[in-house]
Amino acid sequence: MNPRRAPFHLVGTGPGDPDLLTLAARRLLERVDAVWAVAAAGTRPRALDVVRPHLRPDLPVRVFELGMRAGEGEKADFYAALAEEAERVSGLGEEVALLCLGDPLFYGTAARVLRFLDPDIPVRIHPGVNAVALACARLAVPLALGEEVVVVTPATLPDARLRALLEVADVLVVLKVGGHLRRLKALLAEYGRLESAWLAAELSGEGEAIWRLDADAPLTAPYMSLVIARRDAA
Ligand SMILES: C[S@@+](CC[C@H](N)C(=O)[O-])C[C@H]1O[C@@H](n2cnc3c(N)ncnc32)[C@H](O)[C@@H]1O
Repeated sequence: MNPRRAPFHLVGTGPGDPDLLTLAARRLLERVDAVWAVAAAGTRPRALDVVRPHLRPDLPVRVFELGMRAGEGEKADFYAALAEEAERVSGLGEEVALLCLGDPLFYGTAARVLRFLDPDIPVRIHPGVNAVALACARLAVPLALGEEVVVVTPATLPDARLRALLEVADVLVVLKVGGHLRRLKALLAEYGRLESAWLAAELSGEGEAIWRLDADAPLTAPYMSLVIARRDAA
């Protein structure tokens, strides 16, 4: 490892509530040379809103915009370029904190940069509270107990794969629900698990809401929502 290179930090900010930012992340943000965040083009990075109160007013902040409908190839190019820029500033001795909502290594989009970084760059990961932990806390329901098997999946998988997961999971956690809610409800009903499932949306944001996935639950959900489906209601 080249000792002249400054560390590059990947920082989990938690799901949105500034009180859920870890003390370690907060201390780090007080001393880094710059903060970076990734946002869909034309949107404001939520992770930046979370940490804003803790940033020095003169701290350089850079937002890297990724096209809303970027495909896998475009994303790879985007993160390869981000990694190149990280290497450049690291070589200048500047410590950068790249923000990521929730925990960076739990489906964290910004973590895609890791595979493109030169292994000589010292990388430091700062864990954050993930959205599933917050959902369980709001529900006061354990994510898992004893020998229960938890499966976490994006809602984007095809029905056949979701069915296979429902067969094995005592607790199925579904992220990226968005426009897949109707399909998910039908699948859960097929397995008799609709009544013991919850939908949690926009946790710690202004639109925070939690529903039992019964008849009164909404038919659509925002992207920032997840489903927790236990085999039995805890
Ligand atoms: C790309 S993943 C990022 C997960 C994040 N790194 C974490 O640790 O929570 C985005 C998905 O996480 C879930 N999610 C993240 N933040 C959320 C929130 N505040 N409320 C509800 N769901 C959230 C949603 O399912 C969303 O589609």
